[in-house]
Amino acid sequence: MKFVLIACLGSLALAQQEPALQGPGPFIRDLTADTLRDFPDLCFSSTNFRLHLENQSWSLFPFCGRADCVKKGDNFVERVHDCGPQPKNGADCTISNLAELQRNDTILEYPACCPKYTCPEGITLQYPTEKEIQAEIEKQTQTALQAAKEAAAARESAGSA
Ligand SMILES: *[C@@H]1O[C@H](CO)[C@@H](O)[C@H](O)[C@H]1NC(C)=O
Ligand SMILES: *[C@@H]1O[C@H](CO)[C@@H](O)[C@H](O)[C@H]1NC(C)=O
Repeated sequence: MKFVLIACLGSLALAQQEPALQGPGPFIRDLTADTLRDFPDLCFSSTNFRLHLENQSWSLFPFCGRADCVKKGDNFVERVHDCGPQPKNGADCTISNLAELQRNDTILEYPACCPKYTCPEGITLQYPTEKEIQAEIEKQTQTALQAAKEAAAARESAGSA
């Protein structure tokens, strides 16, 4: 935990020394941990299908992020560290580590897998508001729900044929 804090402060300090690089962060949020009925004291990770002990961390690969299993009161939370939302005007800037991100012979772990933006003078990265982020999540949930319904309907008609 202490190490994580120091690492974060370290990257913040680095970002400050380099004025061209922009981006908010670090992004950390707590989600209700996934658990399995038989293992209520362990965090279940749906990205690697493993159980994790309290205070253990795991990679969210194929997503760019890291999660920690944290006990908060009587409950477990999955503390997610990721790159945060994409800037709305990212196209106005260049991603200085693009070549690194596009390499397919190495797996970059968080935070190395986050894009690092370099913007021309006068351009400030604009990030979506909390409300816009929620609306986007809602849209994705609806799309996933619709896809699941259509798949179920397709199975049903295939079964009755
Ligand atoms: C997890 O970390 C917290 C904070 O550092 C500590 O209080 C707690 O005892 C740790 N739990 C285990 C099981 O190591
Ligand atoms: C990515 O993989 C393809 C083959 O799947 C290869 O031809 C290409 O050179 C690779 N690119 C990099 C940047 O490693």
